[in-house]
Amino acid sequence: MIEKINQVFEEKFGDATLLVKSPGRVNLIGEHTDYNDGFVLPAAVDLGSYFAVALNNENKFRFYSYNLEDYYETSVNAYEKSEKRWANYLLGVIAQFFKAGKTVHGFDCVFGGDLPMGAGMSSSASLETGLAFAIDQMEGYNYSTYDLVKLSQKAEHEYAGVQCGIMDQFAVMHGKANHVIKLDCRSLDYELFPFEMEDQILILVNTGVKHSLAASEYNKRRQECEAGVSLLQKFDREINSLRDVSSDLIRAHKDEFEPVIYRRCAYVVEENLRVERSCKALEQGNFEEFGRFMYASHDGLKNDYEVSCPELDQLVDLAKRVDGVLGARMMGGGFGGCTINLVKKSAVAQFEKTIRENYKTPEGDSPEIIKVTIDDGTRPVLI
Ligand code: GLA
Repeated sequence: MIEKINQVFEEKFGDATLLVKSPGRVNLIGEHTDYNDGFVLPAAVDLGSYFAVALNNENKFRFYSYNLEDYYETSVNAYEKSEKRWANYLLGVIAQFFKAGKTVHGFDCVFGGDLPMGAGMSSSASLETGLAFAIDQMEGYNYSTYDLVKLSQKAEHEYAGVQCGIMDQFAVMHGKANHVIKLDCRSLDYELFPFEMEDQILILVNTGVKHSLAASEYNKRRQECEAGVSLLQKFDREINSLRDVSSDLIRAHKDEFEPVIYRRCAYVVEENLRVERSCKALEQGNFEEFGRFMYASHDGLKNDYEVSCPELDQLVDLAKRVDGVLGARMMGGGFGGCTINLVKKSAVAQFEKTIRENYKTPEGDSPEIIKVTIDDGTRPVLI
C-alpha cells in the first residue's frame, strides 16, 4: 500500500520527502481503564495508515485521502475545523503543534490505510499519531514519543470530540512486533511482554456495526467514573481515580452508591485486577487462563459497564461454542466494532466456519474476519 500512496503523491504533488507507516492497535484486556489511570494491554498490528508527505512552500496544507478519493486544502493562516470529518483528524494534530507554540509550514500529504474504519482498531489514533510523527520529522522538532502521543490524544479530544484515554495513541506509537504492552496509564511506564503466536493466534471479527453511539456514551462513562471517585473521596482523601480503589473498599461502600454508578466503578476496579492477573498468566505461558480473563472482561463490559451491543454479544457467544477458542471479548470503546478472539491454531477453521454460518452483519453480509499479527509502532518507511 505504501508504494501506491507514494505513487499517488507523485502524480498529485511531486516527490515525497518522507513516508510513514502508523499501525492500528488491538487491546488484549483492560478496557475503559485507561482514563481511570489504570492498566491496559494493547499491541500495535500489521494493518495501519500510510502517509507520503513533503513541505510545499505554498503556505497551504493540502491533503488527499486515497481511500475516500477526496481532497481538502486550507491556507496555513486560516485553517479551522472542517465539515469533512476525515480532515479534522489531521487538522487537529496541526492545531496542537501551533498550540504548543510551534510553527507548521505548508505541506502536502497523501494518506490511506487498510484498517477498517470505526471498528475499534484505532483508525483515528493511527492517523493522528502518524501525522504527528510526520510533522515532527519534517520540521525537525525532535519531540519525544511521549509528547507526540499526548499531542495526538489532545487532537482527538478537541477535533474529534471524544475524551479518549491515552491507550490508543500510546500503543500505536510504542508497539513492538510480537509483544504486548502493559501500560500503566497513570505514570506511562510500560513493560513489553512477549506474546507467542506459535500455537494460538489473534482473530478479530467485525460486527459491521459502526460505533456511532460511542462518542456520547463514552464521555458519559467517564463522568460516571468521576462521580464514583468523588463519592469515595469522602472516605479516603488519597483517592484520585478508580485506580486507587480496592475491591474491598468499593464493596464496603456499595450502599452509598447509585446502583448504576456502582456497577460502572466496580467493573473498572475488577478489570484493572484482571490486567495484572492476565500478565501473570502470560508470564507462565498459560493462555487458557489468559482466555478466561478475556471472557470475564466481556461479561463485565456487557453487564456492568454496558458498552457492548447484541451483535458483539452474539459473536462472543459463538466463539464460546468452539473448542479451542481460549477467549473472546469486545474490543475498544464498544457499541459496535470488533471482537478479539484468542484461538488455537488447530481451531481456526472451525471458528471461521461457525462465525460465517451463524453471523451476518446488519447489512446481511458475512462479517470481516481479520487475522492480525503484532507489529512495530509508528515509523518511517523506506522504499
Ligand atoms: C477507545 C478510547 C481508548 C480507550 C478505549 C476503551 O478506544 O480511545 O482511550 O478508553 O476506548 O478501553
